[in-house]
Amino acid sequence: MTISGKTRVCGVIGDPIEHSLSPIMQNAAFQALDLDYVYLAFKVKPSCVADAVNGIRALNFRGLNVTMPHKKSVMANLDRIDLSAQIIDSVNTILNKDNLLFGFNTDGVGAVRALKENGVALKGRKVVLLGAGGAARAIAYAVAKEADELAVLNRTAKDAQALARLVEKAANKRIVAASIEPEDIDANLQDSDILINATSVGMKPRIDETPVPIELLRSNLAVMDIVYNPLETKLAKDAKALGAKVVSGVEMLIYQGASSFEIWTGKSAPVEVMRKAALTHLEKKA
Ligand SMILES: NC(=O)c1ccc[n+]([C@@H]2O[C@H](COP(=O)([O-])OP(=O)(O)OC[C@H]3O[C@@H](n4cnc5c(N)ncnc54)[C@H](OP(=O)(O)O)[C@@H]3O)[C@@H](O)[C@H]2O)c1
Repeated sequence: MTISGKTRVCGVIGDPIEHSLSPIMQNAAFQALDLDYVYLAFKVKPSCVADAVNGIRALNFRGLNVTMPHKKSVMANLDRIDLSAQIIDSVNTILNKDNLLFGFNTDGVGAVRALKENGVALKGRKVVLLGAGGAARAIAYAVAKEADELAVLNRTAKDAQALARLVEKAANKRIVAASIEPEDIDANLQDSDILINATSVGMKPRIDETPVPIELLRSNLAVMDIVYNPLETKLAKDAKALGAKVVSGVEMLIYQGASSFEIWTGKSAPVEVMRKAALTHLEKKA
């Protein structure tokens, strides 16, 4: 890669940021398509978010990804916000076009693309989504637009209710809300086709935990666990052992990044290159 005076700059802001896989995936993608772009990670404290976003314009960056804890606070400094990002009140991608800053959220789209590209169609299907945090919020709206039915289950049941009501209104579809107790999971999984775990249960270091007891899984229930650290969670292992279709959290990570890449460059993302870069890094770390 040759950095020159013409090189376009993209990056990611968050705090902490050192663990981010985005620089690895995005730089691999820019290089694969021979694009004169570079992608860097910036640690930005909450008190500096407005300065950082205004800096996009001042320094003529092409755009930024935004990660925790800034996905909501960046919104106040943008010129236009895409409808999906407005609904879920969260932006993870900023595009600088002619000095105007546009906000998008590619998390939900990334999850839906990950399912579809791995052979899991949403149309006509019933989906059970576990979680009501930041990632679940984005996924719930994107899934509700495509699937026939959606149930949102969360440990804090009132947050599942609030998310269900929000998405119900926005997607104009009835959304069920419940707790994450085994009896509620059982009742909702009975006639479901797809299970998505968007809680942090099963994440390192608690890799022996799963949000769904294996007895409640079955071979014709497709499972996506968005946790990607470890690469294969207990939930994914259990579902695989039963012969179910499993989509890993790395797939969502790749497709949300691919969608951001496409927003900045206007070109189809080299998904295979991004997958290889992310997996090589994660396998080395494992
Ligand atoms: N693959 C990807 O691209 C991708 C993208 C984003 C996030 N993620 C992963 O997704 C996970 C969630 O991220 P997030 O940003 O949404 O986090 P978050 O906003 O903090 O939400 C955490 C969610 O997990 C639930 N939870 C936490 N501990 C639990 C427990 N012991 N039992 C039951 N539920 C529990 C929380 O329930 P309560 O509401 O009851 O607290 C909440 O629904 C993380 O592991 C993150 O690394 C992956």
